[in-house]
Amino acid sequence: MVWFRVAGPDDLPKLSSRILNALDRSSDIYQENVAKFGIPEDYVKRAFSEGALRGAASKGSKFYLALERDEILGFCQMVPKGGERAELDRIVMFPGHTGRGLGSRLLEFSVEDQAREGRREIIVYAGRDERRARAFYEKNGFEFTGEVSVDAPWGKRIELAVYRLEIGRKIR
Ligand SMILES: CC(C)(COP(=O)(O)OP(=O)(O)OC[C@H]1O[C@@H](n2cnc3c(N)ncnc32)[C@H](O)[C@@H]1OP(=O)(O)O)[C@@H](O)C(=O)NCCC(=O)NCCS
Repeated sequence: MVWFRVAGPDDLPKLSSRILNALDRSSDIYQENVAKFGIPEDYVKRAFSEGALRGAASKGSKFYLALERDEILGFCQMVPKGGERAELDRIVMFPGHTGRGLGSRLLEFSVEDQAREGRREIIVYAGRDERRARAFYEKNGFEFTGEVSVDAPWGKRIELAVYRLEIGRKIR
């Protein structure tokens, strides 16, 4: 049975190694989310290190887990953006666990928790050409609000599609 819960500090080392293991250079997840954006491998390793996850949590990020028994099948990270706003920073179902509706259930669980914390709006940035992620957000009630071009922290310019979910309206 798959279940969902908020991650605590003790989950972060395991989550970090789960992510870093999944980001094998040959994996689809690496090709679609890392290579495509020209993100250097070192940057990725640092971004998903235990220290980085702990740092994000200490600044208010909340991590959500999809689990089967004790195995982490996927995670979602929400970052507070002040007041009633949060940014969905990342949502990932690990290889072998996509396409079964679990990403949608994890998103729903995370959004409901954010709503309980007083958030009314979730924003998310998807790669302009990331068809799968964009279809996923659209399917889950996010509204496309426009495109932006930003200088990514790893020094490349990237084109992003911006989506917004107003909480309170049913998400699906
Ligand atoms: C995006 C992601 C979280 C979706 O999770 P999931 O469990 O696969 O999604 P679901 O099974 O709930 O599918 C919901 C919708 O997403 C879209 N979708 C999911 N997998 C897809 C695929 N392989 N190709 C195209 N669309 C897809 C579809 O619109 C789907 O609706 P449908 O089943 O009616 O066609 C997951 O595919 C993933 O982790 N991808 C890699 C990481 C990533 O791109 N994250 C987003 C940016 S951080």
